[in-house]
Amino acid sequence: MLRLSGIGKRFGGLTALQEISFRVAPASITGIIGPNGAGKTTLFNIATGIYPPTEGAVLLEGKDISALPPEKRARLGLVRTFQNIELFGKMTVLENVMVGLHTQTKSGIFACAFRMPWQLREERSIRERAKRWLDFVGIAELAGVEAGKLSFGKGRLLEIARALALDPKLLLMDEPAAGLNSKETQELAKLIKSIRDRGVTVALVEHDMDLVMEICDSLVVLNLGSMLAEGTPKEIQDNPAVVTAYLGEE
Ligand SMILES: Nc1ncnc2c1ncn2[C@@H]1O[C@H](COP(=O)(O)OP(=O)(O)OP(=O)(O)O)[C@@H](O)[C@H]1O
Ligand SMILES: [Mg+2]
Repeated sequence: MLRLSGIGKRFGGLTALQEISFRVAPASITGIIGPNGAGKTTLFNIATGIYPPTEGAVLLEGKDISALPPEKRARLGLVRTFQNIELFGKMTVLENVMVGLHTQTKSGIFACAFRMPWQLREERSIRERAKRWLDFVGIAELAGVEAGKLSFGKGRLLEIARALALDPKLLLMDEPAAGLNSKETQELAKLIKSIRDRGVTVALVEHDMDLVMEICDSLVVLNLGSMLAEGTPKEIQDNPAVVTAYLGEE
């Protein structure tokens, strides 16, 4: 689904990433882990087109997308959620999901203000689709609530619903469990598996090792901008270099 080939990234004198190469298999959950500052978010920024890499290429389903801006990548099915939740706080939960769907229709969000009959039909279908996604992530009953009033955990779910509404082939999630309590994290684990079971490929950056080990099919470990290891959760847990990177020499 995704292939990163020889990715390097320098910010001025700082080498944030070097020689990162791995593949994300279709309909799998891949975890990208590593200590703070390892380069995980930078890698997502490069995969989604927010930053150009200094070296290397990003391939989606075999097609080199390295030169495409983020919107074009999203239209090809590469969609992400952010480490810090980014919602429209004054809009309702349902409207937050509808915004994403409007970008895919012919009317667009501004033309909708004029409300032609065919636009009303389109509007209704968008509303129905948005509701289905809220239902899928389990917050349908909050459709009419202002997004800014949601608890942190529900905001996360809304962000996921909005990303899913874009119909991704590959969903990148940056620390989806950060700030969630243990019950919310368990529900998130189920949700991520059900996303994968729908055929959507998932790659996530996460510090919650219990979650990562439970749901990931394969793991990539970054440390100081380099690839330290790659393998199944079991292989990674047994890898001495990984244990050292996390816990120090002692
Ligand atoms: N836009 C930028 N300009 C300069 N340096 C940056 C920029 N973005 C990231 N960096 C640096 O690149 C390195 C990797 O940062 P990154 O945010 O990718 O780490 P991370 O693995 O996501 O860490 P965390 O687990 O804390 O989120 C850090 O040293 C960071 O300061
Ligand atoms: Mg990060």
